[in-house]
Amino acid sequence: MIPQETIAKIFDAADIVEVIGDFIHLKKSGSNFKGLSPFANEKTPSFMVSPGKRIFKDFSSGKGGNVVTFLMEHEHLSYPEALKWLANKYNIEIIEKEETHEQIKEKHQREALYLAHQFANDFFKFSLRETDEGKSIGLSYLKKRGYHLKTIETFEIGYSPNNYNALENKANEMNYSLETLKKSGLIKENEKGNYDFFRGRVIFPIHNITGRIIGFGGRTLRKDGNVAKYFNSPESDIYNKSNVLYGLYQSKNEIIKNDCCFLVEGYTDVISLHHNGIQNTVSSSGTSLTDGQIRLIKRFTNNVVILYDSDPAGISASFRGVDMLLKDGLNVKVVLFPTGEDPDSYANQLSNEEFKLFLSDNQIDFISFKTNHLLDKTENDPVNISKTISEIIASISIIPDVVSRSVYIKKTAQIFEMDEQLLINEVQKKLRSKRVTNSFNPSPVHSKSTLPSKPFEKGVKHNLIEQEKDLIRLMVNYGAHSIPLKVTSDNEESIEEYPLAQYIIEEILTDKLSYNNEKYQLVFDEFYDGLQKGLVLNEQHFVQNNDLTGLIADLTTSKNTLSYNWKKKHQIHTKLESEMLKQAAHQSVYIFKLRVTENLILDKQQSLKNLSSSESSESIMEEIKELIKVRNIFANELGIIVTQ
Ligand code: CTP
Ligand code: MN
Repeated sequence: MIPQETIAKIFDAADIVEVIGDFIHLKKSGSNFKGLSPFANEKTPSFMVSPGKRIFKDFSSGKGGNVVTFLMEHEHLSYPEALKWLANKYNIEIIEKEETHEQIKEKHQREALYLAHQFANDFFKFSLRETDEGKSIGLSYLKKRGYHLKTIETFEIGYSPNNYNALENKANEMNYSLETLKKSGLIKENEKGNYDFFRGRVIFPIHNITGRIIGFGGRTLRKDGNVAKYFNSPESDIYNKSNVLYGLYQSKNEIIKNDCCFLVEGYTDVISLHHNGIQNTVSSSGTSLTDGQIRLIKRFTNNVVILYDSDPAGISASFRGVDMLLKDGLNVKVVLFPTGEDPDSYANQLSNEEFKLFLSDNQIDFISFKTNHLLDKTENDPVNISKTISEIIASISIIPDVVSRSVYIKKTAQIFEMDEQLLINEVQKKLRSKRVTNSFNPSPVHSKSTLPSKPFEKGVKHNLIEQEKDLIRLMVNYGAHSIPLKVTSDNEESIEEYPLAQYIIEEILTDKLSYNNEKYQLVFDEFYDGLQKGLVLNEQHFVQNNDLTGLIADLTTSKNTLSYNWKKKHQIHTKLESEMLKQAAHQSVYIFKLRVTENLILDKQQSLKNLSSSESSESIMEEIKELIKVRNIFANELGIIVTQ
């Protein structure tokens, strides 16, 4: 670990213009520098470096940040590597901090777990390949399933002898401690003593992304059905099931190469596909797909094809999987297999070429998948059709990208020969009812209203992101600027100078508002913490934070700075804004409050529509009335005249 003081020293020493200048030809342009983007192919410069703010911003690719994140992006370095690179350039000595006793102990415990898994798997591999029992039972089973030796090697498959103490005996023979083997669930204990958990099973080791073994799945060879088909390792410090995909280690390069990942149900599906030439395959191994697993896939591709069994369990797992993947912005296709077949059995029936062809010819998008499945035999039943359409609308409305949504809406309209606008409206409705709202209590300060209470615009909920961004932008750029405010204390009014950041924070907290955007909330919280200590932060406070530096670059630069007479424009812009800061902050705060309230009103109106009992409807109507009053107060603050 590089100590915090050294990191600060490195940041202090690093001259961002000099460092970036090592890679890109930069030209001075006012108080900034500009050059051609190294992240895009371009002829006119859209890359700028601000030595004052110590940030870069690339308007072509949208990337931006500090000197360290530049090196990370441009040179593909890790964070410590980038720091070391700079330390080397500026002759700063790095003395890495000693780890604490606790940290060392933890590291050793994890390492011991890895080693125990490795030790056990070496034993299982040996048993499969070199012992009579392993060869006649384990290996012959795998061969019967059609696996080549090469595949068996790739997946490091093994065999656990059908003996209560084989692994334990091996451990004793090698002077290997049983403690960690027990912790890994490989050796268990009952009243009769220790026994091998996986005995008599074919062993599929589970690898993490760097190829280390972190757990096992063991398949029984018994056909009587009296035991579970698979035993699996328990979770441990190194094995967290929801963050692991079976086969990812063996498949990741092919996933990148094909820009596509096949998702199957089981261990044997992954292995069969591999030895039938489809090497970009992973499995969630019996658990339903998790967000952690989706994040893992997303590191390598945005395209997923689900290959689950066509039985009812498989179909419903596919439905769930489709929606989870869509929600994370992935492109999802599904392949359905003939009844009774799964990827493993079907791959073994066809030649590699035929199977590849089958997969590419039978990929359908989620709309066709849901349509085919739900409509199935009752194609002309109107109730069924409308149920199917709502299912599809539900899926479309969870897709984060608006363009993809509209593509799928078009497609659905075509399939069902219906009006596109109708579908758009339905999707909008779904989107609105889903959005999370801030907890909001009408503040007692605004209890009087003189304005007529009437509902507002067309019933479309506001997207608050721009408003949130504007508030944060003002704080980051002008947080310490003073603005004059009227203050009342002991019934006396006076004008006091307030830092803009404090004004915004107090306004936001008075009405118990918060931000939906996590990063904005983080910046806000830091400002708040700073104020508690009597400090008003500025952009430099955030520039060294790698999670925020991109955002800060975005908030503190403007594309205008690149244009020919940028200087003039820029100055005019900031000057005007500085002079009118009070007004700008006031406006930004109240537009935000107004919008939040309007969204709340819409939510209430929506829930009113979905209500049956008249009793509770009255209380909601009361709430709406109150909210409309508050809304009008905010509108009044902004000088918006509420008509109607
Ligand atoms: N599974 C499990 N425990 C079980 C059954 C299944 O953990 N008792 C998990 C395994 O990861 C398995 C996956 O669910 O790979 C899919 O189950 P299934 O389709 O029954 O097994 P297959 O992988 O198809 O195994 P095989 O082809 O050998 O029957
Ligand atoms: Mn199977």
